[in-house]
Amino acid sequence: MKRIFLIGFMGSGKSTIGKKLAAKLSYDFIDMDALIEEQEGRSISEIFSTDGESYFRALEQKTLMSICTKEKVVVSTGGGTPCFFDNMEVMNSAGYSVYLKLEVEKIIGRLKNGIEKRPLLANLSPLELQKEIKERLNVREPFYNKAKMIYTSDGSANRDVEKLSNIIPQ
Ligand code: S3P
Repeated sequence: MKRIFLIGFMGSGKSTIGKKLAAKLSYDFIDMDALIEEQEGRSISEIFSTDGESYFRALEQKTLMSICTKEKVVVSTGGGTPCFFDNMEVMNSAGYSVYLKLEVEKIIGRLKNGIEKRPLLANLSPLELQKEIKERLNVREPFYNKAKMIYTSDGSANRDVEKLSNIIPQ
């Protein structure tokens, strides 16, 4: 598989696992959010606050298309990437998508720290944060479930990478 797309909710470990998986497979690693920030010269939060979510989603789609011309890459997508336009179909025709599924309680635990970097969650109280994560995950799961592989993560990146490197078709 020349392109592996890791998809899943914010905090599910896409970037940590992606980096390690790429190293193990001797593929390049691409973090879509980091690439967008580099190309725009500003943070995701700044993009959201200055130009809004629709502008960000258009950038995200354009970035995804450009990544589809690269080979031997592991891509960590943004949590919303699969849920806009035909991004899921694009990923499935350009490569192999893996949904990194993590228990909602673990996601909540992880997202308690660092919400300021995530514009969709910033400014929420702890109670609102739990509710928002659960509701948004419910809306998004039908998109995530279109992945070619649904992989239930146990929350340990090293173990996940070991298993994924054995089960992802090469
Ligand atoms: C988003 C997830 C973020 C980033 C942006 C929007 C989302 O990426 O793309 O803040 O809609 O879930 P991570 O999943 O890497 O946090």
